[in-house]
Amino acid sequence: MKTVSEISELRAQVKIWHQQGLTIAFVPTMGNLHSGHVSLVDEAHKHADKVIASIFVNPMQFGANEDIDNYPRTMLNDQQQLTKAGTDLLFTPTPDMIYPKGLDKQSFVEVPNVSDGYCGESRPGHFRGVATVVCKLFNLVQPDVACFGLKDYQQVQVIQTMVEDLSMPIVIIPVETRREESGLALSSRNGYLTAEEKAKAPVLQTSLQWLAGQITQGFTQQERIDFIGLAKKAANTINETGLKTDYLHVCHAQTLQPANEDDTHLVILGAAYCGKARLIDNLQVILG
Ligand code: PAJ
Repeated sequence: MKTVSEISELRAQVKIWHQQGLTIAFVPTMGNLHSGHVSLVDEAHKHADKVIASIFVNPMQFGANEDIDNYPRTMLNDQQQLTKAGTDLLFTPTPDMIYPKGLDKQSFVEVPNVSDGYCGESRPGHFRGVATVVCKLFNLVQPDVACFGLKDYQQVQVIQTMVEDLSMPIVIIPVETRREESGLALSSRNGYLTAEEKAKAPVLQTSLQWLAGQITQGFTQQERIDFIGLAKKAANTINETGLKTDYLHVCHAQTLQPANEDDTHLVILGAAYCGKARLIDNLQVILG
């Protein structure tokens, strides 16, 4: 696998592949890779001739209170995993290359509505940073398809909406969440968990499963479903286990608006603090 950090080198390789009529799949990441990231590369291979991955810890998506400097950087290990997965090219730009004028003077992409609640509310400016960097990376890599993990469900909706709203000729492929046996979603943030916290952390997913079961049961029995009341109960279970629920909501799967009685494709979105880590997870519920 070739690693390039210069934009000119990336563009030169992309040009050659396009001239050869080859298609490109793209997997953007912030590094510190685990098998969830690798599964995106595996999926990417199914959709194009060449796979380009990027590692860029994007300053624009970190809040002032979030410690970007301590975000784990494990380049050698990441390169080994990407090579093993058959990645064709790795792009590793520096912040100066992506934001040469500095963050303050940089144009940005804002995706309304789907960016607003949940992680968008807990992390103001986060999705602006995500949409802006992904837009820039799309313009540099010029992929035919791009793979994103459903673990970050709201992020997938933000990117999908951006691509539609701005007529980008790129197909977004959502990829299922990779989990530990306990049900805990794989995440770079799991590295912050102590053994004791790690034992408690799966309660986030099991509570979402309980809530999904209650919704399905209510639907089958044609009862009125109290989405808000049920979500509160699930949040209480999470809190009683020793985590601190940030949010937990039942939403329409595409618009992410609060669910109502007529919706048949729902997603439960949840986030909880577990020690130093803020964990997020979700579960789709299809009724009928
Ligand atoms: P990062 O957190 O490094 O994640 C890169 C990609 O891996 C995202 O699409 C994410 O959803 C996916 N991913 C993470 N954990 C996963 C898991 N357990 N199973 C499957 N996929 C998983 O998300 C970002 O970086 C950034 O916001 C980025 C899109 C790169 C923009 O900076």
